Amino acid sequence: MGRQHPLAELELKGYTPPQEFGVRSTGKYFAASLGGVWARSPYLHNGSVRTLQELLTPPAQRAKTFHRGSRRFDPTQMGFTDEGAYLLDTTTPGNANSGHDYGTRLSAAEKAELIEYLKTL
Ligand code: HEM
Repeated sequence: MGRQHPLAELELKGYTPPQEFGVRSTGKYFAASLGGVWARSPYLHNGSVRTLQELLTPPAQRAKTFHRGSRRFDPTQMGFTDEGAYLLDTTTPGNANSGHDYGTRLSAAEKAELIEYLKTL
């Protein structure tokens, strides 16, 4: 019995899932769904951006280090507070917070509106 590719049920115009199981290349790039993104701090695949507010901040101005392990949530910045036992250093290999600068040049008011929208997803 052949296994089905994990993306086989994706129905999108022009998309054909790869035949080979385990081949990750789809020929297209699918960004993760933003459903429940309000609760997904710290952000990006490596957890390198602590809050939604900071994700909308130009990468060069994002915190270089912050603590992981907090159970306190900051509903204004939208992320767990900078507290906890582990200090994440974004300057070390694999921990970079340099990507995804979309939305970083919006005005403060626009960012606030965008965050309110993201909270509804
Ligand atoms: C203002 C526009 C955008 C907003 C508000 C936005 C929002 C977000 C958020 C909140 C995340 C973090 C998800 C998480 O960590 O759980 C994310 C990740 C991501 N977004 Fe966007 N996004 C925007 C534009 C884009 C664009 C234009 C692209 C593609 C060209 C894109 C591709 C991605 C990818 C690939 C990730 C995953 C990155 C990673 O995990 O390291 N985004 N986006």
